[in-house]
Amino acid sequence: MPAANACVAGKEPVQSLVHPLVVTLMVAAAASLGAQEPPPPEPGGRGGRGAAIRDFLGLGAAPDAAAAERGGKLYQPNCAFCHGERATGADGPDLVRSTVVLHDEKGDLIGPVLLKGRADKGMPAFSTLTEGQLRDIAEFLHLKVELAANRGTYHTLNVVTGDAKKGEAYFNGAGGCNACHSPTGDLAHVASRYPPEVLQNRFLWPGGFGSGVRRVTVTLPDGETFSGTPKRLDDFTVSLTDASGNYHSWQRSNGVQVALEDRLAAHRQLLGKYTDADIHNLTAYLVTLR
Ligand code: HEC
Ligand code: HEC
Repeated sequence: MPAANACVAGKEPVQSLVHPLVVTLMVAAAASLGAQEPPPPEPGGRGGRGAAIRDFLGLGAAPDAAAAERGGKLYQPNCAFCHGERATGADGPDLVRSTVVLHDEKGDLIGPVLLKGRADKGMPAFSTLTEGQLRDIAEFLHLKVELAANRGTYHTLNVVTGDAKKGEAYFNGAGGCNACHSPTGDLAHVASRYPPEVLQNRFLWPGGFGSGVRRVTVTLPDGETFSGTPKRLDDFTVSLTDASGNYHSWQRSNGVQVALEDRLAAHRQLLGKYTDADIHNLTAYLVTLR
């Protein structure tokens, strides 16, 4: 049963919420991409026989295969180690299920994310990408979405295609969800709180990437402890909001100990384990919890 990880940073200061290795990779990734020559832009493919199906699935125009191929050459060395070779997620989120990617057209939503990055969340900026390169990468990701859709594994309109009984079995069995959740406890009526596609995202990616570190416990030299949601955490300061909403802040100096609790470690591990069928079955089960 996967348990929530507690990362205790005693004497050693917690440098940032991002693993140092990731920072190194981020710099390396941005640098190596900057060195690439921009490929010539090509017109995107439009319409065609599959247009009606794509429209039905909400996928927009058919990805341009040549652009997607160029995009793949940029994607593999620069993005794959975080988002997975097939873009279905690794340390970084699944891009095939990303709403940014799904709603993007020719890089209009993906572009800004890449150019600016989300440094605080572990997504480096690729500020030297040209418009043509952004479009190529976007086309590559759209093709991945398309391939997933054609396999019948991604449904933007109806995510409730699974078998609720199998989902329940997975919840109480292989998934180990019942170690932390209960259909009559915290997840009672969860289906009344979210529409199905949001509910699916809620268990695939609760709170979004980067929000896994949600609880911090500070132990002062005299042994007094405070726990709550971290507000600020760097080499010099730690601050939190406690359960009653009170804000506390300390200098990180002699004897102030900081422990981070990653409550969503189990969810991140599960991302690598689910098959598409598991995901659909779980969603089908969870929508019965009305
Ligand atoms: C060092 C790891 C890392 C690398 C390299 C990286 N990403 Fe990301 N990416 C992330 C993380 C982490 C997030 C989630 C940020 C957040 O929670 O807002 C993210 C978010 C995204 C998003 C937004 C997804 C969404 O739904 O919000 C897109 C699109 C994206 N990355 C594409 C790329 C592409 C394309 C590349 C390569 C050019 C790339 N990333 C390289 C880690 C990385
Ligand atoms: C080790 C504990 C743990 C395990 C195992 C676990 N979860 Fe979670 N889950 C959490 C935590 C912590 C949250 C975040 C709750 C919060 O935001 O307050 C969460 C959030 C969720 C949410 C969002 C609830 C909401 O109200 O928004 C859903 C749905 C969910 N999990 C389903 C699952 C499913 C399905 C599984 C098994 C495949 C699973 N969880 C396994 C700890 C766990």
